[in-house]
Amino acid sequence: MQSKTSENSKTTTTDIVLPGDTNSINNLFGGELLARMDKVASISAKRHAEQIVVTSVINNVIFSKPIPSASVLILEAKVSRAFGTSMEVFIDVWVESLEHQVLTKVNEAIFTFVAVDIKGKPVKVPQLKPESELEIKRYNGALRRRQLSLVLAGKLSPNEATELKALFEQK
Ligand SMILES: CC(C)(COP(=O)(O)OP(=O)(O)OC[C@H]1O[C@@H](n2cnc3c(N)ncnc32)[C@H](O)[C@@H]1OP(=O)(O)O)[C@@H](O)C(=O)NCCC(=O)NCCS
Repeated sequence: MQSKTSENSKTTTTDIVLPGDTNSINNLFGGELLARMDKVASISAKRHAEQIVVTSVINNVIFSKPIPSASVLILEAKVSRAFGTSMEVFIDVWVESLEHQVLTKVNEAIFTFVAVDIKGKPVKVPQLKPESELEIKRYNGALRRRQLSLVLAGKLSPNEATELKALFEQK
């Protein structure tokens, strides 16, 4: 299988936050943002794998900045690393200021998808070749995040999580 780049899976959406998408203080409801992220990231993973994909793990989402009603929201998803049948996808989220054409980063999330056949059995995906400095940084961190996720799920012994252990052993 020929390897692919992160650009190959780049998927961007632009959408507005409507009153029905908000919480009781008129900011975007967390679950609504998760759904929008899941959609854009699943298209990105599907573009990489060229197979059916399912969401396997939501590795990391921090709602550090509120997103007010009527915001114009831009989501960009790219595969950051591929393993055997699984792929890590980064989702960057910005709010666009219409007056000034300025983008403000409001969120970042990391999801894992698995490519499956029609019966839901995991199938192999192409490898990913990172290109830019940011893509290389995310690619390198992905193994550590995968090991942490597998350890927490009880699917990998902490002793086997060599990349993760190395992080704590750094001087
Ligand atoms: C995703 C799914 C197909 C994986 O099935 P499984 O029996 O765990 O399959 P495997 O053990 O072979 O794991 C498949 C891949 O996921 C990875 N994986 C499994 N659990 C993981 C975890 N907690 N963290 C990171 N990766 C994980 C495995 O390492 C493997 O990746 P690799 O081939 O790149 O090494 C299965 O769990 C599933 O169908 N889940 C439901 C998906 C779904 O409905 N999503 C929508 C939610 S509403």
